[in-house]
Amino acid sequence: MTGFDTRAIRAGSEPDPLTGAVVPPIHLTTTFRQDFPGELLAGFEYARCANPTRTALQDALAALEGGVAAYSFASGMAAEDAFFRAVLRPGDHVVMGLDAYGGTYRMFASVYAPMGITNTPVDFGDLAGLDALLGSTPARVVRIETPSNPIMSIVDVAAVAQIAHRHGALVLVDNTFATPALQRPFELGADVIVHSTTKYLGGHSDVLGGAVIVNSQELGDQVYNMQNWLGAVSSPFDAYLTLRGIKTLGVRMERHSRNAMALAQSIVAHPAVETVYYPGLETHAGHDVAARQMSAFGGMMSVTLRGGQDAARLLTTRTELFILAPSLGGVESLIEWPAGMTHTSVEGTPLAVPHNLVRIAVGIETESDLVDDLTQALDSL
Ligand SMILES: Cc1ncc(COP(=O)(O)O)c(C=O)c1O
Repeated sequence: MTGFDTRAIRAGSEPDPLTGAVVPPIHLTTTFRQDFPGELLAGFEYARCANPTRTALQDALAALEGGVAAYSFASGMAAEDAFFRAVLRPGDHVVMGLDAYGGTYRMFASVYAPMGITNTPVDFGDLAGLDALLGSTPARVVRIETPSNPIMSIVDVAAVAQIAHRHGALVLVDNTFATPALQRPFELGADVIVHSTTKYLGGHSDVLGGAVIVNSQELGDQVYNMQNWLGAVSSPFDAYLTLRGIKTLGVRMERHSRNAMALAQSIVAHPAVETVYYPGLETHAGHDVAARQMSAFGGMMSVTLRGGQDAARLLTTRTELFILAPSLGGVESLIEWPAGMTHTSVEGTPLAVPHNLVRIAVGIETESDLVDDLTQALDSL
């Protein structure tokens, strides 16, 4: 199974050997019969340890990212937490981007800092600065998010990984925005990939989930222990919905990317717009790196407005098709105001976002309908 779409459709989804059902059943059972104590019939014992539907999803996730193993969780935050708990110890240091999902920063500031784990937000565009920082303050993990949430900054994963590895750090990439359909962090030097599968992998705004994918079994065993011991696992039904979403990931990402590019180009010169942050635009600071490490530019963009915070908030109420709601990655287009919604937890920190910024998750509706709707909303300001 070499083609991406073949893997997305077939990995983990073999027809049921007992009945021939092409779509394998959802295994709701929490426990599994044994013939003799400790002799498992098919490797399954108790659903927190493993469940066939979760295993199917994990096999698909590992195949899509080209990893050795994958572990799926009840949310993106649960997944990332399991990884960090597996590898961090008091006194450890983590380097992350200046622009990242607010919830991740909050987890470090509120949960890990009191355990004696420090973090330094950095500008990954400054490679010499990163080299100097890691030389003076070694880090256990360098955490990259590219494109980042919400400013759409692009990080050169290969360049950062080379420096991080030279200083003995593990490289984690949050691949939520790009997805493995557009970007393969393991091929660029990452050691571990995390996802909020709530977004594009699920793809329909109807299932919360997260995943950790590793490229070594040693790391995998550590993450598996956290999954099994702490238990923030995907439910069988959530695992099934995510697996179902993954089958159409390739075609959805093509359409998300096409619509987003058309939308970015259509509003970039609008008088109400200050800057459009979309890596597909040649004017985007990370365009060249994105063109090198992504096969298309994805469905996420942000826009700053000349009218400031008031214009930004107003714009989110003036669209008819774009729904005012947090989150992203579903088939429907969403619009939100990060400073007061998804990124309130980073206000006053180095990760704070501009108040005139609006984030847009471009869906897969008809392109011209999206362009018309956003244009009329901008015209109305
Ligand atoms: C880039 C990124 N990573 C992680 C998360 C956390 O995922 P979840 O909401 O599934 O816990 C999010 C959520 O928005 C995100 O955007």
